[in-house]
Amino acid sequence: MSDLFKLDKSSCVKCGACVKDCAFKALKLSNEGYPEIPQEATCMKCQHCFAICPKGAIVFDGKRPQDSIETKNLELPNAIAVENWLRTRRSCRFFKDEDVNQNLIDKILKTLGNVPTGCNARSLTFTCISTREAMNGFRQDFLHAIEEHREGNKLLPRWLALPAILLRKGVEDIFFRGAPSMLIVSSDETAPGVTTPNEDVIAACTYFEMLAEANGLATCWCGFLKMITKEIPEILEKTTGLRRTTPFYAMLFGFPKVRYPRSVQRDSYANIIYRR
Ligand SMILES: Cc1cc2nc3c(=O)[nH]c(=O)nc-3n(C[C@H](O)[C@H](O)[C@H](O)COP(=O)(O)O)c2cc1C
Repeated sequence: MSDLFKLDKSSCVKCGACVKDCAFKALKLSNEGYPEIPQEATCMKCQHCFAICPKGAIVFDGKRPQDSIETKNLELPNAIAVENWLRTRRSCRFFKDEDVNQNLIDKILKTLGNVPTGCNARSLTFTCISTREAMNGFRQDFLHAIEEHREGNKLLPRWLALPAILLRKGVEDIFFRGAPSMLIVSSDETAPGVTTPNEDVIAACTYFEMLAEANGLATCWCGFLKMITKEIPEILEKTTGLRRTTPFYAMLFGFPKVRYPRSVQRDSYANIIYRR
């Protein structure tokens, strides 16, 4: 019997919904009409079979149906709420000088584990610099790495050198916007089955933004950290221990110090092409 896929035959009604929904065709119907996974290696562990079963007859990888969220009558944001959110969400560049509660971060990061990843590879790591103290330590390590690079007589572009000087002098934090915390989402691109590490990272950051805002936090994509790795490839290793080749992106977050009383108006900004 498979440890991955356990079926309660007394509950299974042999409807075949799980087999039909299996994107990798890992599930087959046995001669008696029950679903089974003849070769576990073909399963991408997406849990669709478990989620779709109308009778809750499947225990998948130790996950029991009674521990899932029932989707019937589940409260979800409606279209208006999601559309309003997208129009009014803002990048935050002014944060309160306040740590974010660790339990709140933990709740958000656990929920974030549900993001989609290509072929369900699930090779994401969430590295969270979660307090102001840790974030200030990170800023120091980051500046040291920049200064070491400069001492090696390597010229830095102005867009990088100037904010570094301003941060060192305590004038302005253009890189990290004074944020009390930062999430670095990375993907182990060497792990088996990983096909879309860069896209997985960006998708997770986008969902993080949504979850953070829904919980009263504000975020800002930290493009600077990404751009700097092109000039100083070792900076990620030096500051976070993550491999320099690791696909990653970073999100600054904390409680917002500013409020925007109205939306922006960008409905017409993207090029929309229909082919009918
Ligand atoms: C991939 C990406 C990288 C970004 N990097 C930075 C950054 O390093 N610093 C910053 O202040 N804003 C950054 N932003 C925020 C954009 O400047 C911002 O989304 C844009 O100006 C529109 O403003 P809004 O997000 O409030 O709608 C980034 C946004 C994205 C999507």
